Amino acid sequence: MASNPPCTFVRAATSADLDALVALELQAFSGDRMSRAQYRRHLASLGAAVLIAEAPDDGLLGSALVFFRRGSSLARLYSIATAPAGRGRGIGASLLAAAEAAARARGCRALRLEVRVDNVAAMGLYERAGYRRIGGYPGYYEDGADAWRYEKGLAAS
Ligand SMILES: CC(C)(COP(=O)(O)OP(=O)(O)OC[C@H]1O[C@@H](n2cnc3c(N)ncnc32)[C@H](O)[C@@H]1OP(=O)(O)O)[C@@H](O)C(=O)NCCC(=O)NCCS
Repeated sequence: MASNPPCTFVRAATSADLDALVALELQAFSGDRMSRAQYRRHLASLGAAVLIAEAPDDGLLGSALVFFRRGSSLARLYSIATAPAGRGRGIGASLLAAAEAAARARGCRALRLEVRVDNVAAMGLYERAGYRRIGGYPGYYEDGADAWRYEKGLAAS
């Protein structure tokens, strides 16, 4: 899978990564968190791809979760996160590229996602990677915050 920046690798997660995934979720998100039971279910599901970025000396530095639906050519990036200590090093961009590759490998024509309207870092990540805003959703999040929906076409590259 993708490798970038140096010494950081992106691979499919396994059940052995469960503890680290849950710890990262706690570090990266203050609400709308994925529970341990949800991660366990997604790791075992053909309808989800759980990706992680790791470095030999630092362990798990980031994760991404993509959902697929039978009969749909749209994949959904449900979550992406870089550990606070690893941010600004291209890890989010690597995870996003790996999520797109996973969706392409399943024959999906586009990847969609929602993002809080105040999440400047995530919107920067998506827009730099070529996502375009296609809609808005008032009160989308647990705390009532609004969301933008973004989409990127996944023509073979
Ligand atoms: C959003 C997030 C995943 C970005 O991860 P990252 O590893 O720091 O991102 P990268 O270093 O790969 O940055 C890639 C691009 O994203 C944009 N970006 C990243 N951080 C940014 C910031 N703080 N402000 C503006 N743009 C930013 C930039 O365009 C950057 O490219 P550049 O460095 O060439 O300018 C990270 O900030 C994070 O985990 N946030 C908390 C969880 C979250 O909000 N996830 C998204 C919603 S599910």
